[in-house]
Amino acid sequence: MSELNLILLGPPGAGKGTQADKLKDDFGLPYIGTGELLRKHKHDESELGLEAKSYMDAGDLVPDDLVIRMILEEVEEKGSHGFLLDGFPRSVGQAEALSDALEENGRRLTAAVLISVDDELVIARLEGRRQCANGHLYHKEFDPPKSEGYCDQCGRPLHQRDDDKRETIEKRLATYHAKTEPVIDYYQERGLLQRFDGSRSPDEVHNLIRATLASLRLEEKL
Ligand code: AP5
Repeated sequence: MSELNLILLGPPGAGKGTQADKLKDDFGLPYIGTGELLRKHKHDESELGLEAKSYMDAGDLVPDDLVIRMILEEVEEKGSHGFLLDGFPRSVGQAEALSDALEENGRRLTAAVLISVDDELVIARLEGRRQCANGHLYHKEFDPPKSEGYCDQCGRPLHQRDDDKRETIEKRLATYHAKTEPVIDYYQERGLLQRFDGSRSPDEVHNLIRATLASLRLEEKL
């Protein structure tokens, strides 16, 4: 097997989206972002989006049955030769569903990439995060755009995400500790976990992850 089937794990604001943007190009992988997909459903007011909205606005997880179905369809459609999953799985139930679906097709996960950051830094990052309608990311202090309020890449105005308000960030962190941290143990026990210190600069984090994944891919080919 030489395909790379990867997931990105970590608290909100760890830099999963920032790193995914670089890694998908490095390895030519289709990107499947759970939060991005859910926000699109919310924006389009689809049945799923209307159901997901109240959970997302409260900083809770959207129920497993809704998310699992949505993501497994995406993996089947876009990720049949490798994928980069951001924000899924976020519960042990989701991790088991992904493992079963891959196994049914004779596939398996290559690695679970964990980007660790402490709660204080999460709050600073998310309160200052700004993004455009195309999903390009900035930070008021850590990564400001050249022209204040506008995206360097597409010129669109930058906005703050609905769930990046202090109270909701704290709720998202509590949800992460309660429901997603057990997923770290799940992958650790299966020898799939790769840990990275997300408090380093975006380029440093990127270089470390890229080097690790490149050697894993090499091992897959041997
Ligand atoms: P989702 O959109 O997945 O949000 P999240 O996991 O909370 O992660 P974020 O997108 O907030 O952060 P990130 O780690 O991508 O950080 P980023 O790169 O942007 O999910 C949203 C909601 O959808 C959830 O709350 C839930 O309701 C629902 N949901 C999603 N998946 C689900 C699932 N599987 N099951 C159920 N419900 C689900 O970086 C943050 C900021 O920091 C940016 O401004 C960036 O410029 C800056 N930054 C990044 N890296 C660095 C660095 N190294 N140094 C300095 N600054 C940095």
